[in-house]
Parts: sequence; C-alpha cells; structure tokens
Amino acid sequence: MLFDTHTHINDDVFDGDFSDVLQRAREAGVDRMVVVGCDRPLIGKVFPILDHYDGLYGAIGWNPEDAVDMTEEDFSLITRNLDHPKIVALGEIGLDYHWDKSPKTVQHAVFRRQIRLAVQKGLPLIIHNREATEDTEQILREERADTVGGVMHCYSDDWPWARKFIELNFYISFGGPLTFKNAGLQRETAARVPLDRLLIETDCPYLSPQPFRGKRNEPARVRLVAEKLAGIKGVSLAEIAEITSENAERCFHIGRFSQIN
Ligand code: NI
Repeated sequence: MLFDTHTHINDDVFDGDFSDVLQRAREAGVDRMVVVGCDRPLIGKVFPILDHYDGLYGAIGWNPEDAVDMTEEDFSLITRNLDHPKIVALGEIGLDYHWDKSPKTVQHAVFRRQIRLAVQKGLPLIIHNREATEDTEQILREERADTVGGVMHCYSDDWPWARKFIELNFYISFGGPLTFKNAGLQRETAARVPLDRLLIETDCPYLSPQPFRGKRNEPARVRLVAEKLAGIKGVSLAEIAEITSENAERCFHIGRFSQIN
C-alpha cells in the first residue's frame, strides 16, 4: 500500500469529483495521504476532509510566496488548529525565491516563526524550497528544526544538499518530476538517498508524472512515482511501497491502523 505524503485534494479543482479521486487512489493502492493547507482557503478546507475520512492526515502552515499576507489572525488560526488529532505536521512552509511577491526578509521571518511553533508543539515540518536551498538549510539549522525533523517536499537538489538535510533529521520526498525526461539530477539524488530516508508524493493537482505531465494530478498517480523510484533503487514496487509507508509513519508519528474508507 502506498502513502502519498503531499496532496492538495482540498483544492477547489477536486470539488467536482472528490469521491472519484479517492476511489481511483484506493484502486491504485494508495491507502493513506497527507492533505496540505497552506493559505487561508486551503487551511479551512483541510478539516472537513480529515473529519470525514480515515487514512487521511493533515498539515497546515503558511506558504512563503504569500508571506507578506500572513496576519496575526492567520498565525493564531494555524496555532489553534495544530492540536487537531489528525494534524501530523506543520507545513508547507519555507522559502521561494522564484516569485518576488514577498521580500526575502519577510519570508525568513514567517519561516522562522513557524519553525519555532513546530518545535514548541513537537510537530514535524513540511518544507517548500524553491531556488533558496542555502538559506533554507541555514534557517533550519539555526532554528534547531532537527529536534522535530520532517520532509523536504518535492526535492530537486543534489545529493550533497540532501545529505545535509538528512543530517538535520529530514526525509527526502520525490514527486512527479522524478519521471520527467530532464530530471537526471533528481534521479541521481534518489539513487544516493538511503532507503530509510525516502518518501513519495504527488503534490497534486500539480506536477503530474509522465505520461500525464501538464494534466491535473491526483493521488492515484503516486504509484507512477513509486514505480520510477523502485526502478532507480533496483527493488520491487511492493518493497518501495512498504519502505516509504514505514518512513512516512516514522516521520509523522502515525500508526498503521487506518485506511481510506
Ligand atoms: Ni504543495
């Protein structure tokens, strides 16, 4: 059974066929997933989903691109809701230098504040890093994020950086891009990451794996990521499924008891 560690099935694009999406996930062998809410509307939509379905866990946090928009009200909304029993991580949070909507200084402040909150709550982090690897690593180190660890989501850097994040108690999560033709670097990195530090994800509705690149992504397709990863590691799909599920359980401190129903 597969564990998709990063989904946005709370996105409006799934409103029309939500139960079909979950059905296809089940048919593909995906029995658990994390639903990530990282702005006001998406955070609001996490909880009705968690309360309604088994096998679904949640993560909430404020994304870096919109760091300038985060109000005290938003911060306290996140703080309060982290105590929900099915919230297993704080995220996705981090740094994104691709977009210039939020200045770096504001992104750093919002990132640091949320890491401190996670450390205080004892919750692992889900980290979004785009074109900001050096600063991401430095801030995680300075804020003692290693005390809670977490996930480097949709990892796209090289192995030497991956090793630094692993030393900080993080797992390395691969998504659809691992299947892209031009993703030699990701595949090389995946080949080097120890099996007990690997996770898989879709980041749906984004980043559909081949042969669906450019189309709306959904949790069922984490199977294509798992197949690619199994090929890279030279193990069976069943073994990759088992290992990455166990890693997710360890990372998020959750048991094997529940599945999607
Ligand atoms: Ni995401």
